Amino acid sequence: MPPMDPNPSLLSASLEPDDAPVEVSLRPNLFDEYVGQKKVVDNLRLAIRAALGRREALDHVLLFGPPGLGKTTLANIIAQEMGVQLRTTSGPVLERAGDLAAILTNMDASEVLFVDEIHRMGTAVEEILYPALEDYRLDLIIGQGPAAQTVEVPLPRFTLVGATTRAGLISSPLRARFGIVHRLDFYNPEQLATILHRSARLLGIPIDEDGAQEIARRSRGTPRIANRLLRRVRDFAQVEAEGVIDLDTARGSLGMLEVDEHGFDDLDRKILSTLIEHYAGGPAGVRALAAAIGEDHGTIEDFCEPYLIQEGFLQRTPRGRVATRRAYEHLGYPTPAGFNPSLF
Ligand SMILES: Nc1ncnc2c1ncn2[C@@H]1O[C@H](COP(=O)(O)OP(=O)(O)OP(=O)(O)O)[C@@H](O)[C@H]1O
Ligand SMILES: [Mg+2]
Repeated sequence: MPPMDPNPSLLSASLEPDDAPVEVSLRPNLFDEYVGQKKVVDNLRLAIRAALGRREALDHVLLFGPPGLGKTTLANIIAQEMGVQLRTTSGPVLERAGDLAAILTNMDASEVLFVDEIHRMGTAVEEILYPALEDYRLDLIIGQGPAAQTVEVPLPRFTLVGATTRAGLISSPLRARFGIVHRLDFYNPEQLATILHRSARLLGIPIDEDGAQEIARRSRGTPRIANRLLRRVRDFAQVEAEGVIDLDTARGSLGMLEVDEHGFDDLDRKILSTLIEHYAGGPAGVRALAAAIGEDHGTIEDFCEPYLIQEGFLQRTPRGRVATRRAYEHLGYPTPAGFNPSLF
């Protein structure tokens, strides 16, 4: 049975153009409004209290994890809680060493510089970042050829917050210079329902508990997707149910949008159906699987697998990836005879 193709932008965890303005309005500004990620929040709160107590800059922070889980949001909160300004840039924008030097020399003490997609920074930029992070110093080369000289420029004690969806692409010398490193996890349905209630309140959308739970279950553990689905379900509720989101309107609307029970996106389905159709369910090496799908193996490992494994659709075995019984059932394939019962 060919799996259906749901609207990929609806379920993709990446930022889509129509998310941007709403995201800013829904973004929590303080730890108290930030749902879940308890371990990360507890650690950051403590580190910030200690830094404030010593009147020092916070240690550099590296946040990694799949898109839409709240990395940029946390960077904002860190600056707010430190009571300083946040300056924002991103790896691809920082092409030359001078680009970074211009930003750093203009910072005030304890300010926070947020570098999104830090894995995409150029090598020249990365190299001048090392002494900046470690010793708050820039080593600038002035002039060319035999007359070239290195000039040391002292920097204020600032905090770098780096974010990446691809932790595997961060060089170890760079990673070693972050005092605080955290991975963000997928959210459970209760946490997503809490986020949905908050967003609905801010957007003025009436929603009941069952409606919130239903959207939460189909949001792929990702707040960005939950908030996007909320907006789409609102349209349906407005036309079909006097604007109130309850279980029936949520189900009706999500069914119409072809958002499946687990909120899988196109790539999730492709991984599972390719494993089942081309590799008899596996085991298949992740590189072979990636080549068969025409996707980068790192993307599969970093973006898709964590959720599929957590939800019990995929197993990572020493011999490769294996589709579980749940994967067969979910995609509507018959489970093969003699299916290993340990693959639930
Ligand atoms: N813990 C949270 N509590 C409440 N809302 C959240 C939380 N985390 C994220 N959100 C919501 O989800 C949206 C997406 O989060 P954010 O932009 O911080 O994700 P990200 O990890 O930076 O994604 P990307 O990797 O694409 O940059 C935010 O605008 C915010 O509204
Ligand atoms: Mg972000």
